[in-house]
Amino acid sequence: MNILGIETSCDETSVAVVRDGCFVLSNVVASSVKEHAQYGGVIPEIASRRQLEFITPVVQEALSQAQLSLDHIDAIAVTVKPGLIGSLLIGMSFARGLAYAYQKPLIEVDHIQAHVYANRLVDGAPNSDTKRQQQALPAFPAIGLVVSGGHSSLFFYKNELSCKELGATRDDAIGEAFDKVARIMDLGYPGGPVIDHLAASAQPDASIIFKSANIKDSYDFSFSGVKTAVLYYMQKHPDADKAAVALAFQESVVDVVVKKTCQAARDKKVKTIMVGGGVAANSMLRDRLTAAAARDDIQVSFPTMTFCLDNGAMIAGLAYHLRSS
Ligand code: KG4
Ligand code: ZN
Repeated sequence: MNILGIETSCDETSVAVVRDGCFVLSNVVASSVKEHAQYGGVIPEIASRRQLEFITPVVQEALSQAQLSLDHIDAIAVTVKPGLIGSLLIGMSFARGLAYAYQKPLIEVDHIQAHVYANRLVDGAPNSDTKRQQQALPAFPAIGLVVSGGHSSLFFYKNELSCKELGATRDDAIGEAFDKVARIMDLGYPGGPVIDHLAASAQPDASIIFKSANIKDSYDFSFSGVKTAVLYYMQKHPDADKAAVALAFQESVVDVVVKKTCQAARDKKVKTIMVGGGVAANSMLRDRLTAAAARDDIQVSFPTMTFCLDNGAMIAGLAYHLRSS
């Protein structure tokens, strides 16, 4: 079964074709990120205007890369929440129009759940190699950790479709904290990749210590305090080494995410953690979470880099399991 997935919840316009819920035949992404850089964050009006221009060519390109026409597509899937309302509207209206015109079922998908599902995707058509990769994919039950520009959430998953939220963002999401800290230090937007890169080459400075809130007896996260601590530090030390500050900030957020996620896995007695969302691309998070979980004999799965960020493939993939429910 081939599903065409449309994702337009933030600044990306992404369309993918996924076979049988996991084999990604194509995944095309057009982004307006450069236009938002000068403002230090996404401007919703700009994002949705670009999405209106991008959506038709991106759908055509996704079909062409998959070497399929709409006649070979069995269903249309689209992100319906959460996201920027104007952006969601572009994807949903286009998907509805397509489904109506071509008489295909329309499947509505939650963006956050799709980020966790991205761990179940394999890049490429089914063949002996990708089928082997599919068999090696992590299985449920699992703890799902979503770390993105809008969310820092922990879930307990029984299977693809049954999950319970354990904790969420109380204020700034983790990616938002990365973006705001980068803005404080004038490092550009989006901040996550820049901070990740800068921290990797930093000389650690033991005098710079930040602590992210570790809310007691809760799986909730809070990152606005550490962001403000960085702001005050930079106001007091305008000549501080930005790389050392980036490293100290990143360590503080990674530390609390690793602790809470491993705790959730131990409490729920699961042996798998699936991470999703843009911050899942962070190299320190990948290394430290993998190492900490291994001490409890827990396996951590991260999606392939392209499937960490917003993409249509995760929408089409999850839709396969939602189609008859
Ligand atoms: O999942 P995503 O593409 O969009 C949302 O659903 O929000 O995540 C975007 C977020 C941005 O805040 C960006 O700064 C962050 O992911 N990000 C990273 C890295 N790459 C992207 N954060 C930390 N380290 C990275 N390498
Ligand atoms: Zn996302």
